[in-house]
Amino acid sequence: MQWYEDDTFWVDFAGALFSPGRQAEARRWVRTSPLLRLPAGATVLDLGCGPGTYLVPLATGGARVTGVDLSAVLLDQARTAAEAAGATVRLVRADMRTFVEPDTYDLVVSMYTSFGYFTDPAQNQLVLHNVRRSLVPGGRLLLDLFSKEVFARWAGTPKVVDVDGGTLFMRDTILDDWTRFRSDWTLVRGDTARHGHFEQFVYSAAEIRAMLAAAGFTGIRCFGGLAGEPYDHRATRLVVEATRAGQPEVTP
Ligand SMILES: C[S@@+](CC[C@H](N)C(=O)[O-])C[C@H]1O[C@@H](n2cnc3c(N)ncnc32)[C@H](O)[C@@H]1O
Repeated sequence: MQWYEDDTFWVDFAGALFSPGRQAEARRWVRTSPLLRLPAGATVLDLGCGPGTYLVPLATGGARVTGVDLSAVLLDQARTAAEAAGATVRLVRADMRTFVEPDTYDLVVSMYTSFGYFTDPAQNQLVLHNVRRSLVPGGRLLLDLFSKEVFARWAGTPKVVDVDGGTLFMRDTILDDWTRFRSDWTLVRGDTARHGHFEQFVYSAAEIRAMLAAAGFTGIRCFGGLAGEPYDHRATRLVVEATRAGQPEVTP
């Protein structure tokens, strides 16, 4: 089993990954981000929606939202969160490598570094190709990543943070000449310790631009966050906007 297929990873580290603070921050970004501004009734795909962090506020904001995720447990949490918020959402359990709904979405979002999980680079490229096909002409992709430039300032020293009644120790290892990285996490709560790790690609802005161009996107713009700030030495995220140009695809 690959690490991202393991539901226990997402559940056991939920306090760090999907904290109430992150949920509140997502609600704020959906209200205020110029990159997430949408006409009423816009169709949105949240690829790797997790427990509904962005999915639910996007739906309560008036978008018609589909959430796709591989994790049944996280999809259940997204359903519960949507019900609690009185939001209507469509949830699909699927792998982003195969999920395509041609000419359907005005916006596709991939939030909180939900991209670059597959060891074979062609599979990550395939995800971008699928996204372009699922967008309507003129539709946009927003990719929110922990980029290579940002990661270079972060990696190097182990990190310790307080989470959800415990302490999380994080140690990163760069793999394959800065192509990928491995992160080892240990969550200590009282007398118990839960260890987990994940590995993924870490992309520079130039690398992700090239991948998006190869997938047929145009209008590629890089930002340092969801406020639309510049992607410069102060950036704490890499948020990339890319547009599907052209006419609807013709199916023979
Ligand atoms: C870091 S979490 C981010 C979740 C959410 N976007 C957020 O902002 O909280 C990554 C998500 O991608 C999902 N995921 C991992 N591999 C996937 C795949 N092959 N296809 C679809 N979803 C996947 C995970 O289950 C998880 O919900």
